[in-house]
Amino acid sequence: MALATTAAAPVPPSPDALLGLFPPGTTTAPDGGLRIGGCPVTELAARHGTPALLVDEGALRDRAGRYADGLAARRPDAMVAFASKAFPCTAVYRLLAEEGLGVDVAGGGELALALAAGTDPAQVIVHGNAKTESYLRAAVEAGVGLIVIDNFDDIDRLEHLMAQAPGPRPRAQGVLVRVTPDVRPDTHEAVTTGQRGSKFGLLLPQAREAIARLRASSRLRLDGLHVHIGSQILDTEPFVRAVAAVAELGRFPVYDLGGGLGARYTYDDRPPTVEAYLDALTAAADELLPAGARVIIEPGRSLVAESGVSLYRVVTVKRSGGETFVAVDGGMGDNLEVPLYGQRFEAAVATRVRAPADGAPGERCRVVGRHCESGDVLSAGVYLPDPRPGDLIAVPVTGAYTYSLANNYNAARRPPVVFCRDGRSRPVVRRETYADLMRRDLP
Ligand SMILES: Cc1ncc(COP(=O)(O)O)c(C=O)c1O
Repeated sequence: MALATTAAAPVPPSPDALLGLFPPGTTTAPDGGLRIGGCPVTELAARHGTPALLVDEGALRDRAGRYADGLAARRPDAMVAFASKAFPCTAVYRLLAEEGLGVDVAGGGELALALAAGTDPAQVIVHGNAKTESYLRAAVEAGVGLIVIDNFDDIDRLEHLMAQAPGPRPRAQGVLVRVTPDVRPDTHEAVTTGQRGSKFGLLLPQAREAIARLRASSRLRLDGLHVHIGSQILDTEPFVRAVAAVAELGRFPVYDLGGGLGARYTYDDRPPTVEAYLDALTAAADELLPAGARVIIEPGRSLVAESGVSLYRVVTVKRSGGETFVAVDGGMGDNLEVPLYGQRFEAAVATRVRAPADGAPGERCRVVGRHCESGDVLSAGVYLPDPRPGDLIAVPVTGAYTYSLANNYNAARRPPVVFCRDGRSRPVVRRETYADLMRRDLP
């Protein structure tokens, strides 16, 4: 299934509609150019180069606050854990730890980054459908709060690790059982995770078996259940069905209800607000789960997507076969969401958001990348005012799963990450160098 978001806008959007996709607080300068976090895009491009991933730090902090305060107001003793796969960069871990969020990690690398960034291990939740012994050992040794049991091998490995621990008997490790609730939300099938046939978690009968085994364990402490049904979900109803499914398995002190809320990528997307999502989820928890149970949620995409903007430079403009191809200096090397899921992104000429030279609506264009595949499209069917080589192109809503999925196709150097706030910009990840590309090569 393709996402509904792949369709282009039928008419050119107004400048205000366009601005509405950029991080809250984005403005235009008198010359019509964008200011992200108060920084003019021309200055950002001159200082940090292109392509670059810009993050409006204030917008990200506000979003984290809406999640943390919103959940705390609805369910005391709750925790928001950042699903760090969405943006696994130490500056982002640090920022979100400062905002009081916990972290969900999937793999030893994300665990190492979270710990290096100073995340309190007690606030770390460990995931994975194929957890190696070394990953589990690192998690136990770090003292992580919770490990999510995805399968029976996880139980065997953890039991074994805890039994092997030297010295006096170690404390019991807190665990959750990941439940596959057989709920399929309406999103791209590559990012559905809670349906029968998913590789993640245990269907209800197997979950019951795992619960029984864990209840009999002296080394593992079963704290509760976990459920996560997928990503870019634009409706609250499937989340409620997932809560109902886990409620069938009995009463526990902790329920981790996962992430999955969608981001607003396009003019037509209408995801529930953070508050509407929290209302629906906590209403279901209030009705179906024990009153004093601790609720955890793990937003990734909806937490970080909307604070990110990718900035590119136009290299060529080609009018051919009825199409206008605007080719930029990045593409599927820094944004794989289009080729992987057909996710639609909008785009703007960053210096002419408000003031098309002649007031014309712009030309319908296909913004393409520099990589050697025809699928290397950033945005098809966007209206751009008289695009020219040298123009800056801004693609909004790129804070989630772009940094994580960035790659070196065509030996492209991965872009820097630049935090922008109150008119100041600071790189928190530098651009890769050609030397970086060769650093792992052996003579
Ligand atoms: C276990 C788990 N929790 C949370 C998330 C975050 O999902 P999203 O980024 O859609 O909020 C994921 C992502 O796939 C996940 O696998």
